Amino acid sequence: MDIENLLVTGGCGFIGSNFIRHLLAKTGFRGRIINADSLTYAGNPENLSGVKDEFPERYLFRKADICDAPLLQELFAEYRIDAVCHFAAESHVDRSIKRPDSFIQTNIIGTFNLLEAARARGGGFRLFHHISTDEVYGSLGPVGHFTEETPYRPNSPYSASKASSDHLVRAYHETYGLPTTLSNCSNNYGPCQFPEKLIPLMILNALEGKPLPVYGDGRNVRDWLYVTDHCEAIWTIMMEGRRGETYNIGGQAEMENIAIVEMICDLVDELAPAAAGGFRRRLITYVPDRPGHDRRYAIDFSKLHGELGWSPGESFASGLRKTIRWYLANRAWSDRIRSGEYQSWIREQYGQ
Ligand code: NAD
Ligand code: TYD
Repeated sequence: MDIENLLVTGGCGFIGSNFIRHLLAKTGFRGRIINADSLTYAGNPENLSGVKDEFPERYLFRKADICDAPLLQELFAEYRIDAVCHFAAESHVDRSIKRPDSFIQTNIIGTFNLLEAARARGGGFRLFHHISTDEVYGSLGPVGHFTEETPYRPNSPYSASKASSDHLVRAYHETYGLPTTLSNCSNNYGPCQFPEKLIPLMILNALEGKPLPVYGDGRNVRDWLYVTDHCEAIWTIMMEGRRGETYNIGGQAEMENIAIVEMICDLVDELAPAAAGGFRRRLITYVPDRPGHDRRYAIDFSKLHGELGWSPGESFASGLRKTIRWYLANRAWSDRIRSGEYQSWIREQYGQ
């Protein structure tokens, strides 16, 4: 399938920016990317530094809020959008517990606006790919995996808003025949992840000698996937996936949180020995649990593997080492985020 004008939403975030780099440099995609991002606290144009210079004809950025329906209709017409890869979302569970409002607006209403804009394009529209999460399935006990047939049972405002958007995507395929694909992926990690999520937060706190807050007993399990493996899976589904279908994506890397934090401590000790000596594990601090904290996620991706041949390339040990090296080599990136400096830069460049 040839795509000429691909709208990527949320392309300045963690996975979106990795996807744009991957698509332009590592795949057969020859079209143009229009990156529409409203630049919330999590959207950082620095994640895409150098991309415009390297691909001046094939990449452009528009500051745009997916909650602004008329603006989306304009963008779709102006750039003759023929496909969408939809990443834009409020993505952090802890924030959704404190303030769910923006999750409802962006994740549900924003997705609805995009679906409407795509529908209005009529027959020329080729594909709407929706990026979602395994969290829509709820929590697993000690055994078993989520399949595409697992009933939805979201437990946080974040996962409930993502579940809602998944249902809308499915309905637009069934009702209007919109060509859609949907992927539900496990926890990602890698370069450019905003340091509120477990792995980058622990890396930076360990480097700075700050406490490492582990929720509850630290025995909750997530299934971790290196971000470029996710990007490869998304592109495979967009190119070859059956329209109207959902595909689970996972890393075959189930880990307890405490084991991850200990691995991070040991790797940081190895790669950046503390000046004053002392092992980073001493920084581990158990804190009260997250309300409604899902116990375990694990993904069965045999549909994606069987139909389209995808499987993850990176092991957790090698991916984590790469990730820590990236954060060590990019201290200015995280310093600007942690000091808030990047947000004043965004205001200067792009306005409010
Ligand atoms: P992120 O928080 O790093 O980035 C989100 C991006 O969306 C930011 O650039 C932000 O500015 C933009 N955005 C937010 N609201 C917007 C709006 N109203 N209009 C336009 N842009 C807006 O998120 P991420 O971790 O890169 O996740 C991307 C997608 O992948 C999300 O849909 C998320 O649900 C999904 N997902 C994430 C993970 C994970 O582990 N991070 C796993 C599975 C699925
Ligand atoms: P997170 O990165 O927020 O992803 P998600 O909630 O979407 O899975 O959290 C991953 C796991 O790490 C989750 O079980 C909560 C836990 N966690 C901590 O123990 N401490 C922390 O400071 C954070 C941010 C997460």
